[in-house]
Amino acid sequence: MDSLVALLFSPLPLPAIISLFALAAAALLYLNTRPGALNSKVDLNSQTMGIKDGARKTALLEDNNNLVSYYHDDATTIYEVFQRGLRVSGNGPCLGYRKPGMPYQWLHYKQVSDRAEHLGSGLLQKGLKPNSDSFIGIFAQNRPEWIIGELACYTYSMVAVPLYDTLGPDALVFIIDQAEISTVLCDNQSKVETLLQTREAGQTPALKTIVVMDPFGSELVERGIRCGVDVVSMMDVERLCVFRVPQQPPKPDDLSIVCFTSGTTGNPKGAMLTHENVVSDAAASVPQAAITPNTEDVSISFLPLAHMFERVVQTVMYGNGARVGFFQGDIRLLPDDMKTLKPTIFPVVPRLLNRVYDKVQSGAQSPFKKWLLNLAVERKFAEVKAGIIRNNSVWDKLIFNKVQESLGGRVRVMVTGAAPISPAVLNFLRASLGCQIFEAYGQTECTAGCTFTMPGDATSGHVGAPLPCNVVRLVDVEDMNYFASNGEGEVCIKGRNVFKGYLKDPKRTAEALDEDGWLHTGDIGKWLPSGVLKIIDRKKNIFKLAQGEYIAPEKIENVYVRSGPVAQVFVHGDSLQSCLIAIVVPDPEVLPGLAKNIGCQGSIEELCKNGVKDLYLHPEQFTIENGLLTPTLKAKRAELTALFQPQITTLYAKLQ
Ligand SMILES: *[C@@H]1O[C@H](CO)[C@@H](O)[C@H](O)[C@H]1NC(C)=O
Ligand SMILES: *[C@@H]1O[C@H](CO)[C@@H](O)[C@H](O)[C@H]1NC(C)=O
Repeated sequence: MDSLVALLFSPLPLPAIISLFALAAAALLYLNTRPGALNSKVDLNSQTMGIKDGARKTALLEDNNNLVSYYHDDATTIYEVFQRGLRVSGNGPCLGYRKPGMPYQWLHYKQVSDRAEHLGSGLLQKGLKPNSDSFIGIFAQNRPEWIIGELACYTYSMVAVPLYDTLGPDALVFIIDQAEISTVLCDNQSKVETLLQTREAGQTPALKTIVVMDPFGSELVERGIRCGVDVVSMMDVERLCVFRVPQQPPKPDDLSIVCFTSGTTGNPKGAMLTHENVVSDAAASVPQAAITPNTEDVSISFLPLAHMFERVVQTVMYGNGARVGFFQGDIRLLPDDMKTLKPTIFPVVPRLLNRVYDKVQSGAQSPFKKWLLNLAVERKFAEVKAGIIRNNSVWDKLIFNKVQESLGGRVRVMVTGAAPISPAVLNFLRASLGCQIFEAYGQTECTAGCTFTMPGDATSGHVGAPLPCNVVRLVDVEDMNYFASNGEGEVCIKGRNVFKGYLKDPKRTAEALDEDGWLHTGDIGKWLPSGVLKIIDRKKNIFKLAQGEYIAPEKIENVYVRSGPVAQVFVHGDSLQSCLIAIVVPDPEVLPGLAKNIGCQGSIEELCKNGVKDLYLHPEQFTIENGLLTPTLKAKRAELTALFQPQITTLYAKLQ
């Protein structure tokens, strides 16, 4: 990510002198071009209303309105959503891709739909059955063939199961076995080799066919034959169908996708999502955001398609005949892809936005630049609070133009999800980017989003109102002192987007879904006076210290990690001990300077060894690759505890 942002954002270009004349002219321009305020469909001071069971629903739903299952009645499954896109766009451009340094090329809707039909027919001729017991693995980076493969499944009522690199080999084997996957669509040779290795090790007995998107050598085919796996190219499978098999589209309550998430402990869990789950979540975001994409809209696809957030964004795009352009597959080239594609709709995650924020802030070095930047942000944010979103004020032209251009210059909507964003960053970006920025909250088990911020609501630090496809209720968590009667408790969700359970895992399904169909998220929420939800805590990862004090280590970590010299921190406690200890990974860019100030020098490793007393400094980052973070970048607490057991023991011994 660092290199991405370094490429994406060069320092702010600020004119050294702004003459009085220019300021006067600017003021005139400002008054002349100021647009009207956004009209919100609901009273922003009262965004939700109470219903039975102590639950709340969005004020967008009138009293007698049912929860949203779909937005257009001719688009009730993901298959129909795509067909609608084909129709309303008049077979317009659909999936974009590019070679290095080249413009985007587009596959049109009909081409995508035809290729999906051919591929699906070919897969049936390879022995798959057109029903929701057929699970097809998709093991590829974001690219057009991913969507073609997925649509091939839906054209014949089969089920897509995304696989991804960061799962690790054990989880990969587990998923293929659990879902009895006989066919996997792979992007390239490396992934095929990964799969063949499992087979050569006597695992994944169900695997029969690997379909490859990129060109590959004949030795791969032979290696496949030796272990009983048919390795074929995607083009060949598409050409297999001499006779097209009649389409067998799914019904809304048929399974569409099984989305495996790896938790911090145990085997991955396969969340079973139906067509209605996905379509309702996508459909509900449209009235909530009050922005319907049109055929001129373009989004950039770089967040993993294996995550439901990206899947739902794309479902919104296809249903409205809009286009999706794929990044080249290398995050370092994303800035160039953005400039070439010029997306209008940009799904993002806070990690990326934090970097944008840091970069713009650090670009303003001198006191004058800092003053000017703050003034610009203050003035623009005053407009945002009045419901005015624009990118053509004097401040945009003088100060924010560069950062807007670095995103391609046409972004009108951003949606951030997957993790909380800090209010400071969100406010800053709402002021500086001149587009609408929504925050969504949810989890795979409710497809992706369950709440969404309202257009025109410039407040931050909350996750908005329930989407019109679900209702939200808070449930008492007594041992943490949260009570629904105080408007606080565990966030529980019920609605069209709530999943059907984990594949072949009734135990963990029962932990997540209660008998009345409420999904228990494990997050602690609080209703704010305006009716929006704020996430204030997490139910799990709570432990008691010896003196009976409850500790939420992630909360403490979030505080320490804001300190400059701290890159990562793992806080550990034990019910047999009365205090906490921490493993800290120092920031390699900040630590040497700090050490020098107190007269120490040396490499990061040496500095760490010289470390502080009641703290262990560790020179190597926690990463997904070294098994210490989950793919969603959460700490794997059990693994961290096991790895650092010697240090933990030593630290506690010193404290006795
Ligand atoms: C295969 O694709 C992955 C990304 O999905 C990439 O990292 C890898 O280098 C590619 N391997 C080959 C042989 O092209
Ligand atoms: C400003 O916003 C408009 C409308 O949302 C868009 O068409 C235009 O490209 C944007 N310009 C920049 C520099 O972002």
